[in-house]
Amino acid sequence: MKPLIQFENVHVAFGKNKVLRGLNLDIVDGESITIIGGSGSGKSVALKLLLGVLTPDQGHIYFQGRDVTTMIEKELIEMRKKFGVLFQGSALFDSLTVRENIAYPLREHFHHSEQELDRIVTNKLALVSLPGIEKMMPSDLSGGMKKRVGLARAIATDPKVILYDEPTTGLDPTNTQRINRLILQLKQKLKITSIIVTHDMDSAFKVSDRLALLKDGKICFVGTIEEVQHSKDSMVRGFIEGKMGDGEAIASVGGI
Ligand SMILES: Nc1ncnc2c1ncn2[C@@H]1O[C@H](COP(=O)(O)OP(=O)(O)OP(=O)(O)O)[C@@H](O)[C@H]1O
Ligand SMILES: [Mg+2]
Repeated sequence: MKPLIQFENVHVAFGKNKVLRGLNLDIVDGESITIIGGSGSGKSVALKLLLGVLTPDQGHIYFQGRDVTTMIEKELIEMRKKFGVLFQGSALFDSLTVRENIAYPLREHFHHSEQELDRIVTNKLALVSLPGIEKMMPSDLSGGMKKRVGLARAIATDPKVILYDEPTTGLDPTNTQRINRLILQLKQKLKITSIIVTHDMDSAFKVSDRLALLKDGKICFVGTIEEVQHSKDSMVRGFIEGKMGDGEAIASVGGI
């Protein structure tokens, strides 16, 4: 079976900063894969490349067999309808209510009536266990609630793929567990393909089928949770034990 998403020999540099240096990764339909790597290793850049927000200097990225790097703007807009994104730090619009935040991608891509929007917003808020907060403003919400509203917005369009950029960073243990559970539920209930980028190893183990380790601009290891846990490879052990190799300490297994 052809992978749903393929990164093929992707290179990206910003000036002298060579961030990705031959990244290869295949992601299959319905799986939940976590890309783990230190701060500044290029995780968010990889997601932006997949959405066509950034273009690589070299290499290709395929979604459903089509090369994202050569798509024109109209094709990119069409493709992005199939993606939900939980941005790093939630990125809610402060001046919009919760309802309008969740309705935003729907208004952008579709032509729903206000009643339909109400129904979808209510339904998505129920999915993230925050019923009845439509009229609240982002400034009235806790960090954990903001993440969940961000998640409700990410799934508003019933996407095929969800990109989670640091979904649990900065959250307390209770909210971290809540987000982990939601990621799992969405995968199980809706068969959504999930790509999670994080440096939270504990969450990575809980929510993913496979882990991909990003280091020095490449995926240096990819395997199932079991393969990672049983690996004797010193680099993989280093990741698990919290040494990312690029100056970033991460939470070790079991820690937060
Ligand atoms: N638009 C840009 N212009 C210049 N440099 C950029 C740009 N976007 C990213 N970078 C650089 O690319 C590198 C990788 O950034 P990226 O945001 O992907 O890191 P990350 O792995 O997501 O880190 P974190 O865990 O801190 O979010 C960083 O050195 C960053 O400064
Ligand atoms: Mg990032």
